[in-house]
Amino acid sequence: MIQPQLFDNHGRPINYLRLAVTDRCNLRCFYCMPEEGIRYVPKKELLTFEEIERVVRLVASLGVSKLRLTGGEPFLRADLMQLIRNLRAISDIKDIHLTTNGVLTVPHIDELKELGIASVNLSLDTLDRTRFKTITRRDEFDKTWSAFEALMRASIPVKLNAVVMEGKNIEDIIPLVSLTRAHPISVRLIEEMPFNGEGSHYAKLNWTYKRILQHLHEAFPNLQKQNDPTSATASHYQVPGFKGNVGIIAAFSRTFCGSCNRIRITAQGVLKTCLYDDGVLNIKDLLRSGVTDEELNDALLKAFAHRPKDGFEAETKRATQSVKESMSTIGG
Ligand code: GTP
Ligand code: 5AD
Ligand code: SF4
Repeated sequence: MIQPQLFDNHGRPINYLRLAVTDRCNLRCFYCMPEEGIRYVPKKELLTFEEIERVVRLVASLGVSKLRLTGGEPFLRADLMQLIRNLRAISDIKDIHLTTNGVLTVPHIDELKELGIASVNLSLDTLDRTRFKTITRRDEFDKTWSAFEALMRASIPVKLNAVVMEGKNIEDIIPLVSLTRAHPISVRLIEEMPFNGEGSHYAKLNWTYKRILQHLHEAFPNLQKQNDPTSATASHYQVPGFKGNVGIIAAFSRTFCGSCNRIRITAQGVLKTCLYDDGVLNIKDLLRSGVTDEELNDALLKAFAHRPKDGFEAETKRATQSVKESMSTIGG
């Protein structure tokens, strides 16, 4: 059967679901959580595998074909590989991607390859072990780096995510980008957002996408703009002759909302139609109250017909005004 195409109220196709499988994490990244951590939800409040599969099947029947599993750290969810196996069986889901910090990834790489994982986005903000420990508050650089090397050996497409943080990893920007000389990867430099469990770290964000780009031009004067895939969050560049590329993600400046194709489901089963909203539909409550597929369908379509036009509108419509929930709860 031909998969239908789903559009929102602004004419944007919706074909990408980001699903958080847990809110737990084994790191405590400065930009994501306070040092003492966040209050995790009880396990029974997480969507079960059956619930996840039902919802994914349903959104796939509406037009979603790309799925990204996030967390927290996805590998902290017991039997994650079994879940991926089950989700691979949903034929309308054409590709499954994973965003992970890499600490627990190495033992699963062969199986990820066998399952045909489309790509792995690895969070790595620095190549320096000491700074890694300062930023993540855990001494796990070697494990993340081993994951990077093993993913390269397995020829699994990799994007490296680095959140650019004033006073924390500015000296890492060029070394990270330099990895693209020998590796066919995408290194993404991400504006820091206030999703850290505490609220904004800055009165004004100094390391905006413009400043990041200027910094790259200073180091690589021959940097070239590349074409961006449809609905990409990143604006792509390449140093001529390098195997990989660099993407700048204006996550806080929100320059790419006009082509936003994504919806999110948090670990607790709440639908977000924008990263900056505070949840628009409690899918878990509906599922647990015995909703039929038809009723769930209607509720989802109604939510997709009321999407804010961009992350700024979503922010103003929040019941809780300031953005400060942890990315670990939202799923990134
Ligand atoms: P692909 O496009 O599938 O490669 O993934 P991605 O870059 O969207 O996902 P990833 O999980 O690697 O996220 C990278 C960064 O982009 C993170 O900081 C995300 O929070 C940010 N990001 C992802 N989607 C959105 C979005 O819809 N809006 C905003 N503002 N930021 C986003
Ligand atoms: N601002 C920007 N990006 C963030 N991420 C996590 N927290 C933040 C934040 N506050 C990124 C991480 C991870 C991705 C899912 O989200 O780099 O790779
Ligand atoms: Fe989409 Fe909201 Fe992100 Fe903009 S900020 S790209 S509308 S999720």
